[in-house]
Amino acid sequence: MTEVSVTKDAKPAADDLVVLKGVNKHFGALHVLQDIDLTIARGEVVVVIGPSGSGKSTLCRTINRLETIDSGAISIDGKPLPQEGKELARLRADVGMVFQSFNLFAHKTVLENVMLGQVKVRKTAKAEAEQKARELLDRVGVGSQADKYPAQLSGGQQQRVAIARALAMGPKVMLFDEPTSALDPEMINEVLEVMQQLARDGMTMVVVTHEMGFARSAANRVVFMADGRIVEEAVPDQFFSNPRSDRAKDFLSKILKH
Ligand SMILES: Nc1ncnc2c1ncn2[C@@H]1O[C@H](COP(=O)(O)OP(=O)(O)OP(=O)(O)O)[C@@H](O)[C@H]1O
Ligand SMILES: [Mg+2]
Repeated sequence: MTEVSVTKDAKPAADDLVVLKGVNKHFGALHVLQDIDLTIARGEVVVVIGPSGSGKSTLCRTINRLETIDSGAISIDGKPLPQEGKELARLRADVGMVFQSFNLFAHKTVLENVMLGQVKVRKTAKAEAEQKARELLDRVGVGSQADKYPAQLSGGQQQRVAIARALAMGPKVMLFDEPTSALDPEMINEVLEVMQQLARDGMTMVVVTHEMGFARSAANRVVFMADGRIVEEAVPDQFFSNPRSDRAKDFLSKILKH
């Protein structure tokens, strides 16, 4: 297999950006996150994989406080997650999130979608926000679509706009929760390529995905979850060629067959 030349073995210097310590969360009787300890260094790309229902999305959502936690602690760049108000809005800007569904504002143009948060949350002047939005739209390859509405774009284009919108906030870390799983096969690569480039540019990323090619070539580390726990963590080569746990072996044998 040809590996894209990402410096995946050269881990950035010890500089912790996202730290989860002893995190627990329940949904009623379901213990969905169990004693999660996870530290993500600045510039690191972590791919989270695991069976359906293992808690991957919930883990992502706790990092930008879309879900609260029952116990433990989460900090971003040395600061505990804020509870509410302006601080929370700023956290959401610092922690960009891209979901499976694109969540663009349907009644705003592509350009307006990418400008909005900059103006409202970051208080960037309109002209500057527009310039940045156009640059980012060019960077993700949809610059010519700026004046269209989301529904006029393909799924892959919409997802790239969603990435540009998150990047426009100048996030410290980007969370991706299965960003390509709602896309037609021919559109998956154009989104993965944008993510590959982001990884190469040094963005700190947490990526939930079933795209094992992306995990192999872009990730510094693979985190395998099952039943609300982190069962195994390893560099991709090691994880894919020599998984230690039975859960991971079983999971890989199922998904690599497809
Ligand atoms: N808001 C909620 N209320 C109650 N239960 C929830 C809620 N959100 C998630 N769950 C449950 O928590 C568990 C973990 O869900 P989560 O979405 O984090 O899993 P996942 O690993 O992302 O799965 P998938 O691969 O299917 O996306 C599942 O059993 C799910 O049904
Ligand atoms: Mg999920």
